[in-house]
Amino acid sequence: MFERPRAAERAVLVRLGLGGPVKREDLEEFEQLARSAGALPVATITGRRSRPDPRFFVGSGKAEEIATAARAENAGLILFDHPLSPSQQRNLELLSGVSVLDRSGLILDIFARRARSFEGKLEVELAQLKHQASRLVRGWTHLERQKGGIGMRGGPGETQLETDRRLLNARMRSVSHRLERLQQQRATGRSARAEIPVPSVALVGYTNAGKSTLFNALTGSEVYVADQLFATLDPTVRRLRLPGGSPVVVADTVGFIRELPHELVAAFQSTLQEAREAHLLLHVVDASDSRRDEHMHQVDTVLDEIGAGGIPQLRVYNKIDRLELDARLERSADGNPSVAWISASAGLGLDLLREAIGERLGLRVQRLWMHLPPAAGGLRARLHAAGVVRDERTLADGAIELLVELPAAELAGWAAQPGVQLLEPQPLPALAACTPPEPYLESDAVPLIATLPY
Ligand code: GTP
Repeated sequence: MFERPRAAERAVLVRLGLGGPVKREDLEEFEQLARSAGALPVATITGRRSRPDPRFFVGSGKAEEIATAARAENAGLILFDHPLSPSQQRNLELLSGVSVLDRSGLILDIFARRARSFEGKLEVELAQLKHQASRLVRGWTHLERQKGGIGMRGGPGETQLETDRRLLNARMRSVSHRLERLQQQRATGRSARAEIPVPSVALVGYTNAGKSTLFNALTGSEVYVADQLFATLDPTVRRLRLPGGSPVVVADTVGFIRELPHELVAAFQSTLQEAREAHLLLHVVDASDSRRDEHMHQVDTVLDEIGAGGIPQLRVYNKIDRLELDARLERSADGNPSVAWISASAGLGLDLLREAIGERLGLRVQRLWMHLPPAAGGLRARLHAAGVVRDERTLADGAIELLVELPAAELAGWAAQPGVQLLEPQPLPALAACTPPEPYLESDAVPLIATLPY
């Protein structure tokens, strides 16, 4: 037996230009947002106003037009690409007889669908409960809310908490308590990690830029990838080995979006924490998107808001396959890599990117032959023990030459040893030959779920 997918909910989309015309790109993004929530847009209503109307947000004539369109198209849902007050939402529902959801409600719904970890689910549920609590007003039951419909997914919708503030508060307290315990455990995991001096990198970027695809390509892990907005909601952390074997911790984070409601930024503390504490941010950008500059700006704004604005960034222009460009690395005036042009899905430029990450973290690896005098057996043993020797040859006079791969910063120390000579640098081998990636922090993630029955 398999479950048949639920038919998409037919929805009327509404977006007004406040003080100007509605932009086509904004409409397209809103439509994609609606589809991400499982809605089928059947009509789109636009208009212009200088400011929102207190009763319906739109004017009463426009409200009638929306209600008529919903009836004509047999839609069960009206989606507003604007924040609605509880009374505007209720007035619109009374007028149209169908559910009305605003932008925050819609994004929350998508978050509820996507969250995969226990912690992510709790964070979504708490944000939904708070959103509902702000809407709990007398007369809420004017509509019979369909169980499990868009905007009603997850715990609160299914248990009818929306009709009982006392239960809602109790539920909020219990979810908050569970989250606090989880966050404490996560903090313990993080401080244990901090004791191991492994540099960390976090992937950030506008939603749909290709972060999860890149995360998979770099670490070889299976993170959920979908051509839908906000496919990733949970902090996902894996270990990556750079050329030469230096380990780096990489975290995938939630996608950012324009007009991301503030309460949601606050809600996703756990995933954003990874960005805040990283040594380097990989800012992934869909280079093929005509609005890429605007998206980069939005992401930088959110990074500032969460206190990650000062963390060094390496910009990653992804999806160059769509632009038919070659992979390349740009450097800033100080010689450091600043922009990598790659394609995560086509596997273009990933080696360059790994090298750039290493360089930015001060881990740039050099591969070269090192000449040791015959008496330097102890030094040879230490290099082998450090796992940096790739090849070895013994010369007729008993001297030894080792092919080593070492971070540039460490080379000088070895070269200062008596009798040691550094020979000509060698190209680094293709990365396929590197140690396969290992799952990281499984012991951190799994027991959290196991010890806290939901
Ligand atoms: P959110 O979870 O919404 O933040 O998205 P994300 O940034 O993690 O994006 P994801 O990796 O889910 O990719 C979004 C879409 O872009 C998917 O359909 C990918 O297959 C596609 N994609 C990713 N990288 C590339 C690329 O290099 N080229 C092309 N053509 N498509 C890509």
